[in-house]
Amino acid sequence: MARKKTDRIIEGHDLSFHYTVYDSEGNPGERRTALDGVDIDVQQGQFVAILGHNGSGKSTLARHLNALLVPDGGTLYVDGYDTLDAGNVWKIRQSTGMVFQNPDNQIIASVVEEDVGFGLENQGVPTADIWKRVEEALRAVGMWKMRGRSPNRLSGGQKQRVAIAGVIAMHPKCIVLDEATAMLDPGGRKEVIRTVRELNRTENVTVILITHYMEEAVFADRVIVMDHGKVVMGGTPREIFSQVEKLKSFRLDVPQATLLAWKLKQRGLPIKDTVLTIDELIEALNHGAAENDLTQPVSR
Ligand SMILES: Nc1ncnc2c1ncn2[C@@H]1O[C@H](COP(=O)(O)OP(=O)(O)O)[C@@H](O)[C@H]1O
Ligand SMILES: [Mg+2]
Repeated sequence: MARKKTDRIIEGHDLSFHYTVYDSEGNPGERRTALDGVDIDVQQGQFVAILGHNGSGKSTLARHLNALLVPDGGTLYVDGYDTLDAGNVWKIRQSTGMVFQNPDNQIIASVVEEDVGFGLENQGVPTADIWKRVEEALRAVGMWKMRGRSPNRLSGGQKQRVAIAGVIAMHPKCIVLDEATAMLDPGGRKEVIRTVRELNRTENVTVILITHYMEEAVFADRVIVMDHGKVVMGGTPREIFSQVEKLKSFRLDVPQATLLAWKLKQRGLPIKDTVLTIDELIEALNHGAAENDLTQPVSR
């Protein structure tokens, strides 16, 4: 039950986890490895992106972070609480909230503000405090004006922002988003990413963003790459995305601007550093143009 003193919100060491696959008669059969010797450390207030091909173990790791699953091997402390101690489950869920892929599965009430207050009501928070926290949360995600609406009438991006409000109303230290933008259109994805970046920056909420959109990982303090249940790369977005070939070997891409710059560089254009965004690409090209005569054909 005791809480370890730490400034790390997540401290996982040598984590392993296996799913048991049952046959058609319900007998336990194959054991499928989903996490294999994972070490993960996250400081409070960090923004961490987790990348990896389908089946690499991202969701399994995410479910460990709020004790929906517990490791078969290794140790995991969330906010200083050992996830293997069943007595810690509610403390852990209080400190780490989850947002999942499908916004429709996360809606409970028929009015936005009731939906956001639902978790607080379940926790027995006094009514006056509930309304205060619901208002704060809805303002933080830019959905206060929509508080009286029916969640079913909202766009995908707006629904996910309501889901995020429901999580932050619980005042967690950490939010885990497991492909929370996967079902959204580009506009909705931007809304959600803008919202979590803002929460991270202004409220110091730790963000763990699992995504298959490389462009979203560019904003992270740190990127972790998973493959076959292992952490195979870790570093800043620039360190990670400079390794185009290595990422390809894990069946991952780099952001479009990075790829374009990389291809131009391979063709002889003088681009010095790894480019992460369109703005950086434009800057790199302007810089190159100033130093070199771009009217000459590039080498092939
Ligand atoms: N409920 C489950 N039962 C059996 N195997 C599972 C289950 N969920 C995931 N797996 C397996 O565990 C591995 C990791 O899956 P998952 O954590 O969902 O990866 P990701 O989120 O990166 O796609 C995969 O091999 C997957 O098939
Ligand atoms: Mg997944």
